[in-house]
Amino acid sequence: MRKTVYWMEGDGIGSEIWRAARPVWDAAVHRAYNGQRSLEWVELLAGEKAVAATGNPLPQETLDALSRAEVAIKGPLGTPVGGGFRSLNVTLRQTFDLYACIRPVRWFKGVSAPVRHPERVNMVIFRENTEDVYAGIEYAAGTPEARRLGGLLRDELGAGVPEGAALGIKPMTEHGSKRLVRRAVRYALDHGLPSVTLVHKGNIMKYTEGAFRAWGYEAAAEFGDAVVLEKDADNCAGKVVIKDRIADAMFQEALLHPEQYSVLASPNLNGDYLSDALAAQVGGLGMAPGVNMSDSLALFEATHGTAPRAAGKDIANPGSLLLSGALMLEHLGWSEAARLVEQALGSVIADKTVTPDLAVDMPGAHAVSCSEFGRLLTRKVSGMDM
Ligand code: NAI
Repeated sequence: MRKTVYWMEGDGIGSEIWRAARPVWDAAVHRAYNGQRSLEWVELLAGEKAVAATGNPLPQETLDALSRAEVAIKGPLGTPVGGGFRSLNVTLRQTFDLYACIRPVRWFKGVSAPVRHPERVNMVIFRENTEDVYAGIEYAAGTPEARRLGGLLRDELGAGVPEGAALGIKPMTEHGSKRLVRRAVRYALDHGLPSVTLVHKGNIMKYTEGAFRAWGYEAAAEFGDAVVLEKDADNCAGKVVIKDRIADAMFQEALLHPEQYSVLASPNLNGDYLSDALAAQVGGLGMAPGVNMSDSLALFEATHGTAPRAAGKDIANPGSLLLSGALMLEHLGWSEAARLVEQALGSVIADKTVTPDLAVDMPGAHAVSCSEFGRLLTRKVSGMDM
């Protein structure tokens, strides 16, 4: 069986982490299925490589291919600050309605972490990706638009908006909230996970975040007997417990009782903060995998940026891309190959053979280059017991 995977190298350290990671996935697939399955890699141009070849950072051919694709995976894409073109990541999310940003966060033995028990963190964050204050509806202070909208709010709706305020709009819909929560509950059921927690700030933003909570419970109720509310959860083994937490309390819980949480479902902004905070809790963003999904396309990605200072030095950590590839293999139903990648990575890290970013906080570690790390992993995967 051959599966087509579209891939985008990305900018900065993109080419280096790709050179390290791709042989590992290919070796894992070969090992897991005795050569009976393989990945067919089809490159799509994006970012600097695309500008060099076509003058356009996101060429039409790339968009056309992605509109037909089921699965794609990308390295980091640079975004010019304060000018130039718009973020390609945001463009991709909006163009393809990639409404669910999914980030599993777990600790790898040996990785230095800022908390005493990083091993208790094993969560998958489902972040709504299209709505909320990220919808990009903002008006700068003093502009005619801000004055007009401020006037409407004050004069017609009686809202206490100060003159001259900058304004932003936070749209949240039943459709957007429910499809995200359904996906989170489905994931928990498919993976035998104990709970889904709706993370919201509904005590303050009653009609947006509060509505997310209410719609979330309604969406979860569609799963009938397979789920149970937290208050009824005693003696309901095997069911997914649906609970909710106010976002600020969730940040405390993540530090104090992380073992009580497995799947989190959240609006855009909370999810953004939570993803990075949890990744930091287990030792940094360099190792966190991610995927942005619509109902038809799953776009896997390294969650870090282009790391311009590390680029070209063969020191980058390919871990995030590698684990995103493992998620992709799992998504394809090739779980055996996914496990091989994760186990090989876990084993090499436990042996303290790591890239410099991890070695720096790991006493006794042996730092290796990005390319050497990739070669070690490929050898490990190829020789691993199944
Ligand atoms: P960054 O993630 O590139 O770097 C932050 C820090 O982490 C730097 O010290 C960097 O050297 C280090 N780092 C990141 N990934 C690493 C890896 N794999 N191995 C070793 N060290 C690593 O974030 P920054 O500097 O804010 O952004 C740089 C560029 O990347 C910007 O243009 C930004 O827009 C873009 N970006 C793209 C993302 C994406 O494509 N998903 C996500 C975040 C940023």
